[in-house]
Amino acid sequence: MIIAVDGPAASGKGTLAAGLARHYGLPHLDTGLLYRAVGRAVAAFDGTPEFESRAIDAAKTLDATHLEGIEELTSAAVGVLASQVAVIADVRAALFDFQRRFATQPGGAVLDGRDIGTKICPDADAKLFIVADSKARMERRARQLEARGQVVDRYALYHQIEERDARDMANPHGGFYQASDAHLLDTTRLDIEAALRAAVALVDAAVAGKAGH
Ligand code: C5P
Repeated sequence: MIIAVDGPAASGKGTLAAGLARHYGLPHLDTGLLYRAVGRAVAAFDGTPEFESRAIDAAKTLDATHLEGIEELTSAAVGVLASQVAVIADVRAALFDFQRRFATQPGGAVLDGRDIGTKICPDADAKLFIVADSKARMERRARQLEARGQVVDRYALYHQIEERDARDMANPHGGFYQASDAHLLDTTRLDIEAALRAAVALVDAAVAGKAGH
């Protein structure tokens, strides 16, 4: 079974995808980490003419060692770099195969990102599109960062999330929209447990629907 979980920054999709993976006993890939790893690898070239070619090279040679250092990888600054490399078509193409291989392993998988239901796994058994309002997303991300001991400027964080959303929505190579067969889940007023219960119910219904029950 392949489960595709998409949504904007800090919508709760990563937490929900991890919870769904535990619930169904499936492996989970947070595809945002791939773009973050590429962005971090080329941070030193930000604003230079080499940025694009370096990012393409980094995406083509990406392996598990580039995903180490999760604290830095999940920082707001690396998130902005990730959204910059994500608009490069050759970066997306290089990361496509990695994601597709993960999705099609025997038994299936849960993938979360922006274009899983539209481009990576248009054939997924269940697709969820997770949303939450901007203030709720900022507050959640702020608490995550604070729990890791980071000092958070909420005003700056809010604007970083908005900047990232705007770049992602305008990405011409994206596919960052709700697939026509994806189920919408708004987590603004839900805690983690309630959101996961709702997500499991949607996946079960989608799978039962496909099986013709
Ligand atoms: O999911 P996360 O916020 O960690 O993703 C970081 C950035 O990586 C996003 O803002 C987006 O630009 C990019 N991304 C993408 N396609 C995906 C996952 C993430 O372009 N499937």
